[in-house]
Amino acid sequence: MDQWKASKESVKAYDLYMRHQRDGGRLQTESILRSRVDLGCALEIGPGPGYEGLEWLMETEDTTLIGLDISEEMVALARKNARDYGLEKRAEYRVGDAGKIPYAKGRFDAVFSINSLHEWAQPIKVFDEIERVLRPGGKYLICDLRRDMNPLIKYFSILCRSRTQKEIRNGFICSVDASYTLQETTDLLAETKLEGWKAEQSSQNIIISGRKEYNAFSAAYAAPARMMPLLLRT
Ligand SMILES: C[S@@+](CC[C@H](N)C(=O)[O-])C[C@H]1O[C@@H](n2cnc3c(N)ncnc32)[C@H](O)[C@@H]1O
Repeated sequence: MDQWKASKESVKAYDLYMRHQRDGGRLQTESILRSRVDLGCALEIGPGPGYEGLEWLMETEDTTLIGLDISEEMVALARKNARDYGLEKRAEYRVGDAGKIPYAKGRFDAVFSINSLHEWAQPIKVFDEIERVLRPGGKYLICDLRRDMNPLIKYFSILCRSRTQKEIRNGFICSVDASYTLQETTDLLAETKLEGWKAEQSSQNIIISGRKEYNAFSAAYAAPARMMPLLLRT
């Protein structure tokens, strides 16, 4: 599968592009919150420059974030952006492969990832890892482009990116081509250990959301006391 290679120049160009997306209100923060991924300590897989997670922190209270990205350049940039937001105490970034998440079982209250799935070299391993590091009752949202998006929308999106750098436009085309269809996504998920998932599509995106189920051993992963009333939410 094609991977988006992060050189210093492409990281800088992507940062600028994502800042414009943020300023134009085109981030996925709303989708993350709609999936009720809104409390505790969240893991963000592939945060890139970090805007999605940083905006999520701005919109939520008493939350913290750990971002895991395979690219050193992206992690350095996300750390800098967290400082610029004044959120360095709530956001921590680490270099690593989500196919082997360097945290203990049940460590996170939530996991989310935006536009990164198409780059995962071993997606089944990543989904299994999400299941492992989530606490019982923890929610997740994975959102990515869909390869079979409406051709008119794809054409329009490419046209819009023609005004930005060529690299961003080509990166978008590569990302769409490397992404999954809904059928491929459900086939993939069926092979994983991830529980309680729902996969949907919108005009441009594949959205995977769900909640890790409770089981007989769930008491071992007691959620923070302040969250107990919230545990009753579906
Ligand atoms: C297209 S960028 C999206 C960045 C950000 N989520 C956004 O929406 O702006 C994909 C990111 O996923 C990261 N990535 C790719 N494979 C990864 C893996 N196996 N583990 C962790 N991060 C990964 C890349 O380094 C890159 O920063």
